[in-house]
Amino acid sequence: MLNPKPIGFIDSGVGGLTVAKEAMKQLPYENIIYLGDTARCPYGPRPAEQVIQFTWEMTNFLLQKDIKMLVIACNTATAVALEEIKAQLSIPVVGVILPGTRAALKSTGSQRIGIIGTQGTIKSDSYKRALKNKSPQVFVESLACPKFVPIVESNEYASSVAKKIVSETLMPLQKKRLDTLILGCTHYPLLRPVIQNVMGSGVHLIDSGAETVGEVSMLLDYFDIANGPENPQPTKEFYTTSSPQLFDAIAQGWLTNYQEKAQHAKLNSK
Ligand code: DGL
Repeated sequence: MLNPKPIGFIDSGVGGLTVAKEAMKQLPYENIIYLGDTARCPYGPRPAEQVIQFTWEMTNFLLQKDIKMLVIACNTATAVALEEIKAQLSIPVVGVILPGTRAALKSTGSQRIGIIGTQGTIKSDSYKRALKNKSPQVFVESLACPKFVPIVESNEYASSVAKKIVSETLMPLQKKRLDTLILGCTHYPLLRPVIQNVMGSGVHLIDSGAETVGEVSMLLDYFDIANGPENPQPTKEFYTTSSPQLFDAIAQGWLTNYQEKAQHAKLNSK
């Protein structure tokens, strides 16, 4: 049965656009609403309680837009808020951590997996726990990269400063003989070429957000709420809690054919 309601995507900022981009590619008939809480980004250094509260505020904003599914396109928010939100909503809610975990276990040959993410995600130990639950023998090395998100949010992800910071930050992973590295923050795929260059071509990078879209697609079919060719021109709405201009500049650089204009969103407390 056709269901024209939009799929909602939330992130602390522009990072979730990496997930939305993949959704536009894999699910071209779906209507999409995106909200980035750019005014309060980064979430990574914030206490879990605060991240949970902000995630609820974003969720409630999108529920008012009558979404049919919620994608928490942010690892930091997924790590601390997914279970609670999933338990309380009547629509399907998808996070980005488990899909990334599954893809990493599929990819690794040597059973040596690295994870990079925000301080909040790494501190939560969510990836390591999920990997070990599925495959106890796997070696896992985690690293928080707090400098990466500000580079992306300021649209500097292709700059020489970005290269320097990425290479310095990833130094501790160089000697760990990893064959797979999970990009455990949805902002990081924008830095992917730089990260790949630093880690070397022998390390397979897992884009947890992109992996998530496979699950979104599966759930749309499972619940029989996918849109089809009857909706050839799906709507796309973008909301940001700070400057729509900077958001549009980053979205234009990252999304193919971004012609929309982001709108300002005001979030209310839970
Ligand atoms: N994009 C978010 C994530 O996947 C978080 C970035 C941040 O706000 O620190 O973790």
